[in-house]
Amino acid sequence: MTEKHIPVLAQEVITHLNPHAGEHYLDLTAGYGGHARSVVERIGNNGRATLVDRDQNAIEHLTESFASDNRVELIHNDFFAASKQLVAEDRQFDLILADIGLSSPHIDNAERGFSFQKDGPLDMRMDPRIPLTASTVVNDYSKEALVSLMQKYGEVRGANRIADAIIAARPLKTTTQLADVINNSTPRYPKVRLEAQIFQAIRIVVNGELEQLTSSLPLWHKLLKPNGRLAVISFHSLEDRIVKRYFSENGGDRYDADLRLLTKQPVTGTPEECFSNPRARSAKLRVAQRK
Ligand SMILES: C[S@@+](CC[C@H](N)C(=O)[O-])C[C@H]1O[C@@H](n2cnc3c(N)ncnc32)[C@H](O)[C@@H]1O
Repeated sequence: MTEKHIPVLAQEVITHLNPHAGEHYLDLTAGYGGHARSVVERIGNNGRATLVDRDQNAIEHLTESFASDNRVELIHNDFFAASKQLVAEDRQFDLILADIGLSSPHIDNAERGFSFQKDGPLDMRMDPRIPLTASTVVNDYSKEALVSLMQKYGEVRGANRIADAIIAARPLKTTTQLADVINNSTPRYPKVRLEAQIFQAIRIVVNGELEQLTSSLPLWHKLLKPNGRLAVISFHSLEDRIVKRYFSENGGDRYDADLRLLTKQPVTGTPEECFSNPRARSAKLRVAQRK
């Protein structure tokens, strides 16, 4: 089988999570199983793994990959809902990983609407059960809402002008139509960066990405056994800031801190990895251990 998604920071995740035989592993964004496979190999016959993903294609792939492995259970849900369920069931884990964001198939498959370089519908839902689509955001949101989401989630400058251009071009149907409107609305910006920032902002809103992360971190903390390790890989500063803040509010040298920070600074990809896998360029790994 060809690899659909190359896991980032694969060696660094193993070094910091440090899986041992018999441990219980929770992967909240199991995707195409790259990280999961290498952890599952190390936890041995007495280990157990719970793999979560909100994307149907990822779940189908994981089902195929782990079908004959009775140590593995799969949950098709967003990680906040899955974490609530696991907390309610009083479950706890030695190893927890969240490798947040998009997988390569999300970008490669034009039909999903995540790519500004491929023509597809304005969708961007990681799970089609999500009620909001990119089309609703682009075609129905007020100017103020568009400006605010571009500034807040894409750190876009000149958002006013771009929002005016989007509204004037309505109805927009496809990703390349939106990319053209963005390009034509501003003469100066490096265009690819601007498109990426705006697509990121819309995607964050559609999938509730920051709310998912902010509300899940305290649950992941609860789901850790004593000495359990939690690793989070994020791909942009908005997410990394949330993780950094949670870890520093609950970790460190204070006598009442419940987490020990295993990474004082975020771990990033080696130049070799960033060269061979461009997704690794923005990846940041932070790891904490429950005391
Ligand atoms: C970067 S990929 C993970 C790749 C995986 N670590 C691997 O090695 O194949 C991110 C995955 O997380 C899923 N995902 C993103 N946000 C999620 C959320 N809030 N709940 C559940 N899954 C999510 C995406 O569908 C995607 O499959």
